[in-house]
Amino acid sequence: MAGRPTNSEWFFKNILDSLKDGVITLDERRKIVAFNPAMESIAGVSAGQVMQRDFDAALPELAFFGEKIDQVYRTGEAFFDSNACLRMRDGREVSVSLVVSPVTDDEGGSRGVVIAVRDISYVEDLQRADRYAEVVNAFRFISSSIAHEIKNPMGGIKGAAQLLLEELTDSQLKEYARVIVSEVNRVSGLLENLSDLCQPAELRLEKVNIHQVLDDVIMLETNRAREKGVSVLMDYDPSIPEIPADPQKLMQLFINIVRNGVEAMPEGGTLSFSTKVSDQFKVTRSAEHQTASRMLMVAVEDTGMGIAPEDLDRAFTPYFTTKEGGSGLGLAVSMNIVEQHGGRIKLESRPGEGTVVKVFLPLGK
Ligand SMILES: Nc1ncnc2c1ncn2[C@@H]1O[C@H](COP(=O)(O)OP(=O)(O)OP(=O)(O)O)[C@@H](O)[C@H]1O
Ligand SMILES: [Mg+2]
Repeated sequence: MAGRPTNSEWFFKNILDSLKDGVITLDERRKIVAFNPAMESIAGVSAGQVMQRDFDAALPELAFFGEKIDQVYRTGEAFFDSNACLRMRDGREVSVSLVVSPVTDDEGGSRGVVIAVRDISYVEDLQRADRYAEVVNAFRFISSSIAHEIKNPMGGIKGAAQLLLEELTDSQLKEYARVIVSEVNRVSGLLENLSDLCQPAELRLEKVNIHQVLDDVIMLETNRAREKGVSVLMDYDPSIPEIPADPQKLMQLFINIVRNGVEAMPEGGTLSFSTKVSDQFKVTRSAEHQTASRMLMVAVEDTGMGIAPEDLDRAFTPYFTTKEGGSGLGLAVSMNIVEQHGGRIKLESRPGEGTVVKVFLPLGK
């Protein structure tokens, strides 16, 4: 019967729909005849919007490689680009690798082209995380040596100032000695934080309900913010199982993130928490084998002032702060906690509109 797909057509459609790579197929006249779900999510448009339409008119954002497609039609030779950047109509830039291959019939005649697109932003994130880890390791080495060297003389200064405090009778001079003691205490506190960053305490793993952790953080941290006009929204995925994690560390992680969100909205706004099972995996390699465990994602989104693009990477650097009185350690500590759990943390921001912090944590076995 005309129009009704045959078994083999269903079979090929299922294959296309199951592929994680985006696929677009064009007929001999550049009309789009297949557009799979992975391509829908890469391009941010539905198949219904583009099917049966001319490629250049339906997807003008991809028109820049129209010339390459012409070349494939003309020469019958495939074209490959391992690192192209596509700017989608919703403003997203997606790093992709793509292959444009000719489709030929049994007689070798041209029947169109097929374009396979792989989103490699995830690979870039991993490379960025590797570069970051190198910088952090160097930083840890230098700062732990410095912290170690400063702690001892600080103890000496404090001891001497305490002796002065006991010996002195002049109240003005006593005050100076008191200032020395309290400032030394402050420096010691900073050194403690620094030591913690350099050699984080061991995790105490238990089965943790991530939603319970988030609820506790929300209860502890958002009461005052609500009074200032911050509303809190939650959108939890109830199918997320308990994960192996250190609940105290996760509390510390989300408290840091929530405080930043609240601090970014002095005039009020919305703080939204959402959880879902992510399509990212934690890959563990050992000499014998490689395992991949699925991750959950917690997104904490604010409608605050946002972060300038040039500050996005620096935000995790210890002591980077744009706040008066900020220590700049919140996100550095958060990054450490996430990495100790084998997860990843990512910041996305639009200046003037808001920021979303995405935390990925392995779901375990
Ligand atoms: N949600 C956010 N919105 C806007 N800017 C943010 C947000 N989160 C982090 N930042 C930026 O990243 C910087 C570093 O954040 P981090 O939490 O490490 O330190 P801090 O908040 O400045 O100080 P601390 O957390 O130690 O009190 C902040 O100063 C701010 O510029
Ligand atoms: Mg902070």
